[in-house]
Amino acid sequence: MIAVAIDGPAGAGKSTIARALAKRLGYIYVDTGALYRAVGYFAIKNGADTTSESDILRLLPKIDVALRFVNGEQRVFLNGEDVSDYIRTPEMSMAASNVSALPAVRDFLFSLQQNLAKSNHVVMDGRDIGTVVLPDAQVKIFLTAAAEDRAGRRQHELQRKGLDADYNEVLKDVVQRDYNDSHRAIAPLKQADDAILVDTTGNTKQQSIDQLISVVEDALSKL
Ligand code: DC
Repeated sequence: MIAVAIDGPAGAGKSTIARALAKRLGYIYVDTGALYRAVGYFAIKNGADTTSESDILRLLPKIDVALRFVNGEQRVFLNGEDVSDYIRTPEMSMAASNVSALPAVRDFLFSLQQNLAKSNHVVMDGRDIGTVVLPDAQVKIFLTAAAEDRAGRRQHELQRKGLDADYNEVLKDVVQRDYNDSHRAIAPLKQADDAILVDTTGNTKQQSIDQLISVVEDALSKL
């Protein structure tokens, strides 16, 4: 099986770009952030403090998370319910970032991610795919862009969904999540030694997609 691991900070356009890449290659696209979001969603629904290890440890045994692919589109199921449409708010982003710092949560989601790559060709995106989840991935990409670019994209994405989004608030969230994700003790966001750096600052969406496809196809052709 072939795996393309794509890691990078919040709002680098990973999901849009990775999805387009997966389509082009005919691989499934796995958005691992959705798994952490589902755990964060469950915690919030149950009135838990998403930064409290004891709260989250108590809830984990009650959580069943699964990914299903409907017409190539990933849907995330939490205890049998499709929660894909509820996990994209800024509140859920922060909840996901909080619970993702807990080793028990990372362990809980680990084999699910690895198993998907055992039975499918995947483009998998996240924070620790090339470093921890799929260290043997054939192609590793570290996808990034300036924080201001990423905040601008996130703001448009939220506005398109009809959610209220103030640029400064979104930028603050992006910077805070970058900090959380790259400073946590376990599996922090960092570029794998053998990852190719792709910086999309200043690009249009299409330019970023074209840039990534070209980098990945070139890497795959050398395998
Ligand atoms: O990619 P995203 O914004 O949907 O991810 C939400 C949060 O989940 C992110 O802030 C950190 C966490 N995450 C992680 O720790 N490891 C991953 N592989 C994917 C996401």
